[in-house]
Amino acid sequence: KPIVLSGAQPSGQLTIGNYLGALRQWDRMQDNNDCLYCIVDLHAITVRQDPVALRSASLDSLALYLACGIDPDRSSVFMQSHVPEHSQLNWILNCYTQFGELSRMTQFKDKSERHSHNVNAGLFTYPVLMAADILVYNAHQVPVGHDQKQHLELARDIASRFNALHSDVFTIPEPYIPGVAARVMSLQEPTKKMSKSDENPWNFVGLLEDPKMISKKFKKAMTDSEDPPRVAYDQENKAGVANLLSILSGVTGKSIEHLVAEYEGKMYGHLKGDVADAVIALLEPVQAKFHEIRQDQALMDQVLKQGAAQARARAAVTLEKVYQAVGFVLPT
Ligand code: AQP
Repeated sequence: KPIVLSGAQPSGQLTIGNYLGALRQWDRMQDNNDCLYCIVDLHAITVRQDPVALRSASLDSLALYLACGIDPDRSSVFMQSHVPEHSQLNWILNCYTQFGELSRMTQFKDKSERHSHNVNAGLFTYPVLMAADILVYNAHQVPVGHDQKQHLELARDIASRFNALHSDVFTIPEPYIPGVAARVMSLQEPTKKMSKSDENPWNFVGLLEDPKMISKKFKKAMTDSEDPPRVAYDQENKAGVANLLSILSGVTGKSIEHLVAEYEGKMYGHLKGDVADAVIALLEPVQAKFHEIRQDQALMDQVLKQGAAQARARAAVTLEKVYQAVGFVLPT
């Protein structure tokens, strides 16, 4: 079976962007693939985190993965920091990555502007750790939202370079990008993507939010002032409406064309109400399962223990090949 690796940062509450762009695909991919899903806590500290909030967001993420259908009996689910091989490979790959390549990463440029008081080395080398996450398992496919495509291309370049210099240690990973709602945009600033760590909570919808709040957030979502209002899919001139259509299409499975025809002559308020209802209906069973799992600490401990043991056993095999390839003396 093809190997699949993916993860999300516990840098806040997972959003409907993370769900439509990632988690939903992760669940589906379990049927035909050998999947590893991690909570990338090492990545999260590239931006300053409150320790108490980080620990709690990490456990919430785990319970949400399971509530969204990730099955620990079919997939390995673990905390990135519980598998030290990621960090070990990260160092080695740092030495196979060029400063110029990392300087071109758009996420670094965005994040270093947003966090200008803390442009740390980890933020800069974030994509190398991501490459290590993927390559340490020789993953074939990596489900990612559109925003992570550039990082995946870099992982491919690093792997090819290493293989060309030494031997074919790494599998070259392929991105798996969902067609619909691959990039869910911010509700108030629909030209930028929805992010869980956004300072303005009106910009995102968290998977654990209360239905009333979800309705309020969609009601307040930015649209446009075209007169008369027109529900059309035009990402450039009508980014807010296009985003609402894309979310509704992602949640209901109806095509954008179908939805545009359905909303002809209707007001934006109508569309907003329907998007909110669809999202609330989607999240209701997820939230119920989440609360059940989150209270069961023994279950969560067991999943993490099993996931880390499975992941470590696999990662150690690759790391040994890498040590051998670069010329390290293997530990006896
Ligand atoms: N807005 C989005 N639309 C579609 N997919 C998205 N993803 C993130 N945002 C969207 C996908 O979710 C997965 C996990 O992302 P991540 O947590 O590793 O990092 P991120 O891309 O930086 O996500 P956020 O929510 O924006 O986090 P913060 O605010 O901490 O930076 C990835 O597959 C990603 O593509």
